[in-house]
Amino acid sequence: MRIPLLDIQAQLAPIADEVNAAVCRVIASGQYALGPAVAEFESTIAEYTGAKHAIGVSSGTDAILATLMALDVGPGDVVIVPPFTFFATASTVVRLGATPAFVDIDPHSFNIDPNALRTWFTNWKGDKPKAIMPVHLYGQCADIDAILGIANEYDVPVIEDAAQALGASYPGVEGTRHAGTMGLAGTYSFYPTKNLSAIGDAGMIVTNNDALSETLRKLRNHGGTDPYSHTLLGGNFRMDGVQAAALRVKLPHLDRWNDARRANADYYDQRFDDSPVAPPAQSYSREHHCYHQYVISVPEQRDALRAFLTKRKIGSAVYYPEPLHRVPVFESLGYESNSFPVSENAARTVLALPVSPEVTAEMRTHVADTVLNFFD
Ligand SMILES: Cc1ncc(COP(=O)(O)O)c(C=O)c1O
Repeated sequence: MRIPLLDIQAQLAPIADEVNAAVCRVIASGQYALGPAVAEFESTIAEYTGAKHAIGVSSGTDAILATLMALDVGPGDVVIVPPFTFFATASTVVRLGATPAFVDIDPHSFNIDPNALRTWFTNWKGDKPKAIMPVHLYGQCADIDAILGIANEYDVPVIEDAAQALGASYPGVEGTRHAGTMGLAGTYSFYPTKNLSAIGDAGMIVTNNDALSETLRKLRNHGGTDPYSHTLLGGNFRMDGVQAAALRVKLPHLDRWNDARRANADYYDQRFDDSPVAPPAQSYSREHHCYHQYVISVPEQRDALRAFLTKRKIGSAVYYPEPLHRVPVFESLGYESNSFPVSENAARTVLALPVSPEVTAEMRTHVADTVLNFFD
């Protein structure tokens, strides 16, 4: 049995006719960049997340970049990010001439550790950082109440990198809220492997702040909402109409897809209980996690297990093989090896297994059997 980590065509198949029709309508309309399809999708995302504003952009990376630009992040500024995340969380900071200040993660949730964040602030002697950017890694929210508590104390805005977490939620002091809606702004990615996936690249920013929303609408379109009115130094971060149309067809299915991911995760958790494999720690009850990835920790022989699975046609992946302070392009930031031991250990031990909604009961049984056979 071949079990890919993700089967994009299998997910599309049941709704392909509807997606094709929606895309064809945009093609026939001639309104390809922004336009009514994007505006409609923005309203749907605002409604789904409960955010006041949703601003469609070209990718999750550009969502972060534009948000940092709106905060006027530039040379000499510092933005706090975890080192264990996708490249774009930190590369966007560096592209603006600013410096990412890495704060290590919690070993259980893989999200930025509020205790380490507090220690960072206690020791920091420089200017106030421009932002704190927690990442809701693998689809589980970082501890936002604790992070917002520290951020408010030091008067620093929080931008949530929720690229992996649309459909996840956080049960906090203000009730249960959607990932991405708790800080000043939140950013999503609709890259084809995400839980809600475009047919190419697309992203979204959500915020409750009117002024920020207005600035972002300009920044995504060369600094003006009207043609040739360049009041800000923006870029081309526009969302395509065809992406918005496809995403709008898919969004009503997202909760059901995320439930299927949760059911797969629940099954794996039971099978891996009391085994050499550590199932992912749940910070909150299961319904809050959207399992963008189901990531086990394998303290020994992670790579051998991966090779064993590959040989048996079972997809798996390492997100991420290097923490960001160790990737070549950030060497100039001057971090030594072992600067962030929790992130470095995670990079050596994590392994993502197939958890997508298309993974059937038969498939997940085979995945769990094969993983456990490896340790027999
Ligand atoms: C945590 C995180 N941040 C940012 C991004 C960037 O999103 P995109 O690939 O849409 O540019 C991704 C997606 O790959 C991600 O996983």
